[in-house]
Amino acid sequence: MPRQFFIGGNFKMNGVADSITSIVNNLNSAKLDPNAEVVISPPAPYLSLARQVANDNIGVAAQNVFDKPNGAFTGEISVEQLQDLKINWTLVGHSERRVLLKESDEFIAKKVKAAVDGGLGVIFCIGETLEERESNSTIAVVTRQLNAAAKELSKEQWAKVVIAYEPVWAIGTGKVATTEQAQEVHAAIRKWLGEAISAEAADNTRVIYGGSVSEKNCRELAKENDVDGFLVGGASLKPAFVDIVNSRL
Ligand code: 13P
Repeated sequence: MPRQFFIGGNFKMNGVADSITSIVNNLNSAKLDPNAEVVISPPAPYLSLARQVANDNIGVAAQNVFDKPNGAFTGEISVEQLQDLKINWTLVGHSERRVLLKESDEFIAKKVKAAVDGGLGVIFCIGETLEERESNSTIAVVTRQLNAAAKELSKEQWAKVVIAYEPVWAIGTGKVATTEQAQEVHAAIRKWLGEAISAEAADNTRVIYGGSVSEKNCRELAKENDVDGFLVGGASLKPAFVDIVNSRL
């Protein structure tokens, strides 16, 4: 079975009820590749709205979730609350949270574990900074980030994880990774899955690319063997997102 192409739309802290409704309505009425899995991730206050407006074939993801089930954790959102709202996915470990909010590999891994234990699919984000790339430590950095999650998850639980490789230097910069740069890291991630998890995980886990993906560069990237889709930021707010969803058509 080939891996199903996966396109996530991360709205980040953008949009209000009106604009999010119109983005979702635009997706509802577009002709989307029936073989692609599409999951949008609006800001937390609009998760429920997006779930109500979106067609059933469009998934909705939170942008973050907490690792504890409930209690005195002001401002956090639990797995149970997401499930209650019929939100089946969450992002975890986005670089904006790693960098700006100082989330550690271990904390992120605990959140991945809590989300998967609670039945959510996880879009697990990893990636290196420009400094790390320039010092040739890209593979070491993503391996460290992956190893932290591997300490928490059982081998079977990787079936609920989509790995998003998002080089920090490519996010929101217009500086997309070349097809070779993306394929090289994706292949290394798949090799890691085979060695650290299982042959099944290496075959079946979607490894998607994020960082300045646009309707212009998506088709070339989508041809690479180990690129199983995209996590799209800025362009997911625009009608061009439909072209990215359809990049394999
Ligand atoms: P951009 O597509 O805006 O570069 O953002 C990528 C990203 O961070 C998606 O999570």
